[in-house]
Amino acid sequence: MLQNIDALDLVKSYSKQGLTIWFTGLSGAGKTTICQAVYKQLIEQGLKVEHLDGDLVRQTLTKGLGFSQADREENIRRIGFVAHLLTRNGVIVLVSAISPYRSIRQEVREQIGAFIEVFVDAPLTVCEQRDVKGLYQRARNGEILQFTGIDAPYEAPLDPEVTCSTAEETIDQSVTKVMQAISRYQVSSMSFGASV
Ligand code: ADX
Repeated sequence: MLQNIDALDLVKSYSKQGLTIWFTGLSGAGKTTICQAVYKQLIEQGLKVEHLDGDLVRQTLTKGLGFSQADREENIRRIGFVAHLLTRNGVIVLVSAISPYRSIRQEVREQIGAFIEVFVDAPLTVCEQRDVKGLYQRARNGEILQFTGIDAPYEAPLDPEVTCSTAEETIDQSVTKVMQAISRYQVSSMSFGASV
């Protein structure tokens, strides 16, 4: 099995190829944490990397959007559009957003082309126990409506390139899986001439 260091070498060798790595999962599943660790590893190699995080993007690019299905779809389309522009210019783009709807994830996958989906998978009960931001409690109390997993749906990926089961594996193990998937993608896209 490839170790992180081998994966990093491979990613660096093929770094001119842009790529979007899209992290989807419930709030509190660990998307942002894994993304930040992957970001650090890639940036330390001198690669061009951007991280688009749902919580941050919603303060700027998608400010004013709420959590209805239509607003979430708009949120994901806008993030997907920016990820597409960056990817075609050779940037490795890390997106962390709940992105609960399968059809919109498929839409951005097709738009972007060079795309890896990472399912950050933790049971709702675990996310609720963690309740890092205290939002699950508020959703249970009825103070926040349309909360993913409580009174709004989450459609898990059917065939993600990577699954990080964060209730069962360490952050390092999750990061290694993602790094290996990136290097596999870069190698195969060079071999088969994939383009974005
Ligand atoms: S998405 O569904 O449109 O992809 P996004 O990832 O951008 O969601 O934003 C999710 C973040 O918004 C959560 O991590 C949480 O901090 C906050 N949030 C506020 N209200 C809700 C809600 N009703 N459902 C989910 N997350 C919410």
